[in-house]
Amino acid sequence: MSFLEWTEELSVQVPEMDRQHQDLIGVINELHDVMSDGKSLREKSAAISRLLKMAEWHFVNEEAMMYRISYPQLQAHRTAHRRLIARVLEYKSDFDHPDSATGPELLLFVKNWLIAHIQEADRDYAQYVVRCHVDTQKLMVKTP
Ligand SMILES: [Fe+2]
Ligand SMILES: [Fe+2]
Repeated sequence: MSFLEWTEELSVQVPEMDRQHQDLIGVINELHDVMSDGKSLREKSAAISRLLKMAEWHFVNEEAMMYRISYPQLQAHRTAHRRLIARVLEYKSDFDHPDSATGPELLLFVKNWLIAHIQEADRDYAQYVVRCHVDTQKLMVKTP
């Protein structure tokens, strides 16, 4: 069993966003494996960078989608995304310190943040999409 699993309970009913959340969960699981496997500090740090890159990419896509549908909570949602990135960057700079013990703490933080964020903030835009009868097939997003 993976450290973090995507289940239907995490669906936001926008297929592209579900796919991106699954990719994000995949990167978190990779980070978990790198942290548990006694890899070098450099490899661990690179895994955190991959998570940051994937999270930033997803947030840009999600915010672009919210902008296109004129979602009223876009600003607050964007702030929540920025806070997560800032927090992970803080962990990363602590982590780069040789005797850092932030690995398990970072993983737990990211896991709990993502689940809570998807189930509350992301689900809120999902409900807006349904209320406004937006065709989710038209919410095409750029792929990297
Ligand atoms: Fe979000
Ligand atoms: Fe999201």
